[in-house]
Amino acid sequence: MTITSEANEINFSSNSYLDAYSRINGMVIVGEGLADRHFRHLARLFPADSEELLRLGAMEARHAKDFVGCGRNLGIKADVSLAHKLLAPLHQQFIEAEKKYDFVSCVVIQCLIIECFAIAAYRTYLPVADSYATHITKYVLNDEFQHLNYGEKWLKDRFGQVADEVEMCIRKAVPVTMNLLSILHPDLKAVGMDPGELVAEFVVCFQESLEQVGFLPKNAQKIIRSLMVAQMLAA
Ligand SMILES: [Fe+2]
Ligand SMILES: [Fe+2]
Repeated sequence: MTITSEANEINFSSNSYLDAYSRINGMVIVGEGLADRHFRHLARLFPADSEELLRLGAMEARHAKDFVGCGRNLGIKADVSLAHKLLAPLHQQFIEAEKKYDFVSCVVIQCLIIECFAIAAYRTYLPVADSYATHITKYVLNDEFQHLNYGEKWLKDRFGQVADEVEMCIRKAVPVTMNLLSILHPDLKAVGMDPGELVAEFVVCFQESLEQVGFLPKNAQKIIRSLMVAQMLAA
């Protein structure tokens, strides 16, 4: 199956596409599964919001299942081994924060960073997805905004007390997230995704989120710019 999408011709049945897709698909499935776990943790931490958080977690579990279907549709089995390795440091940061009763960081890691990253990734994937995956990615993308909104509202309601902690967590967790991109760079390109565009989408989404939470636009910009500079220097 070959389609022409914007500038690229994508052959969804070529070995190089399917090989890269198995790792990208694995990353998505493991990431969605991790998001489900994080929401179940958050439901225990915030009993008043438990019902809502369990509902959000169940959405993530459904996303994971539906993306397994995308791989099956192309006749591949997701390669989850790399994904488990790549996502472990971010999950570890979530668990360490929880152990330290640093619930602000738990919300920032899952509901701001992971959700903005997912939104950026799905936005970048949509124009180059096969028709089966397009349908699923569109509904998933809509759902991710609900998850992001939960975190934005939670942090906004407490902004005066949590602003410094939010910033500290971002400085620790965003570089770990961005690091995933450099490792996945060749696979992203092989499935037609532009890693630079993904970063640009992340910056837009994250800037909007930080403003929603309560940061002044110029402060949000400053935080993001310093992260991007650090990322470039580390590359
Ligand atoms: Fe999701
Ligand atoms: Fe989500």
